[in-house]
Order: sequence, then structure tokens, then C-alpha cells
Amino acid sequence: MSTILDKIDLSSLPKHIAIIMDGNGRWAKSNGKPRIFGHRNGVKSVRTVTEAASKIGIEHLTLYAFSTENWNRPKTEVNALMHLLVETVKKELKTLHKNDIKLEAIGDLKQLPKKTYDALLEGIELTKSNKKMTLNLALNYSSRWEITEATRAIAQKVKNGDIQTDEISADMISQHLTTSKIPDPELLIRTSGEHRVSNYLLWQIAYTEFYFTDIFWPDFGENELYEAILGYQNRERRFGRISEQLD
Ligand code: IPE
Ligand code: IPE
Ligand code: MG
Repeated sequence: MSTILDKIDLSSLPKHIAIIMDGNGRWAKSNGKPRIFGHRNGVKSVRTVTEAASKIGIEHLTLYAFSTENWNRPKTEVNALMHLLVETVKKELKTLHKNDIKLEAIGDLKQLPKKTYDALLEGIELTKSNKKMTLNLALNYSSRWEITEATRAIAQKVKNGDIQTDEISADMISQHLTTSKIPDPELLIRTSGEHRVSNYLLWQIAYTEFYFTDIFWPDFGENELYEAILGYQNRERRFGRISEQLD
């Protein structure tokens, strides 16, 4: 029996997949449960998708876990999410390490509660030499925050006389973003039927393929990831050219 995985061309996988994991709250509501129940089940999807991505050879997976705007949620939900994060990192760390996965995080990490920050740093330190895949968590992240920080850093270099304004290039800007070490995502997935970017990787998605699905994040599993990759592989990426110019 052929499976979705059989249809995927493993020689032309996206190197970097970014995901906006959305719909935990609505998933919980549809099951008559509190929102945090949705977040707990969302963690299961994180595990499944991380393992599936690494199994087929994706090099970088960036998951939007908490945006700078998410602080505006009710305090109880914010606290529960921060707690869940510590718990998850601690619980999953051994498996991540065993599977040769490197944990990374992007965002204004220093503003996270100390326990969350410490757990994260411990995980990053333990897995820093792992090679199979990078699992990059966007935490207290927003793209406008990141671009503002990069602008400030570049302006400071100009002020110090380290660079001239005409040396500022797109590459230099990329190099000042939190994603400087990884390629731009070829594929961005958003679950739950919302069609927006919510302040995620604005600079990096200039030529990214978008894949939207109505499935809520806790129901997004291995097959759903493969469906998204298959969808991506059926696109023609022209980068401004015309079809006939592509080989
Ligand atoms: C995504 O699910 C998880 C986070 C943003 C932390 P939501 O919590 O946004 O779920 P909905 O969108 O309210 O259903
Ligand atoms: C985006 O989801 C942030 C994360 C997935 C962490 P939200 O559910 O917060 O997005 P908006 O605010 O509804 O666009
Ligand atoms: Mg949401």
C-alpha cells in the first residue's frame, strides 16, 4: 500500500520548515475542555512532528511557540504556557539528545520567567553539538522586535565607524537576525484555518511557500506534515522568472 511518505521526493525536501502552531484553544473548546488541555495536546504534536521531520531528513524546524503579543492573554494562560514549556523541555530533553537533535531558541529570551529561561538554556547547552536536525523554538518572538534589534545593532556599528552606510546590504541584515545561522524557510505551515503571519519571520519568508490547513494543531501529525511537504513539492518556485527559464 502506498503511503503519503512514498510520494515525497526525499531528494528535494525543504531544508527549513517553519510552523505557526495554531488552534490549541479551539481544539480544546470543541472537546469541551479548558484551553490549557489544548496546549498539553499541542505538545504531543510537537513531539510527533519533530520526530517525523527529523526522520525524513529536514535540517531545520522552527516552531512558533509564544509571540511577544501572547503576553496579552489572560495571566493564568500565560503562566500555564510558561510552566508547560519548562516541563516539556525537561521531559523531552533526553529523547531530543538521543535523537541527535539540537535545541535552539529565537526571541527575546531574557524576558522569559527565570525558570523557563534556565530550562531552555540547559537544553540548548546539552544538545549544542547534535547534528541530525535543529529544533528552533520561537519564544517571546516577534519579527518586528527582531528587525528593530538588528537595525539598532547595525546603526551602532555605523556610529562606531566599523561600517559605512553604503555597506549595508540585504545579506548584512540577514546576518543580524536571530536566524543568521540557518537558511530562510522554504515552507511555512499554519494550522487552524487562520490565514495570517502574526509577526513571524517577516524578513525570512520573502520567498517562502505558504501552506494553510484547517486542522487544529493538536490534530496535526506525521501524515499532515507529509501532506504539507507534498503540497510544497508540487509548487513551481519561480523567484521572479518565468516557467520556461526553470530547468
Ligand atoms: C496556538 O494555539 C498556541 C499558542 C499561541 C501558544 P492558540 O492558543 O492560539 O489556539 P486558538 O487560536 O485560540 O484556538
Ligand atoms: C501565533 O498564534 C503565535 C503562536 C503560534 C505562538 P496566535 O494564535 O497568537 O495568533 P493571532 O494573534 O491569533 O494572529
Ligand atoms: Mg491562535
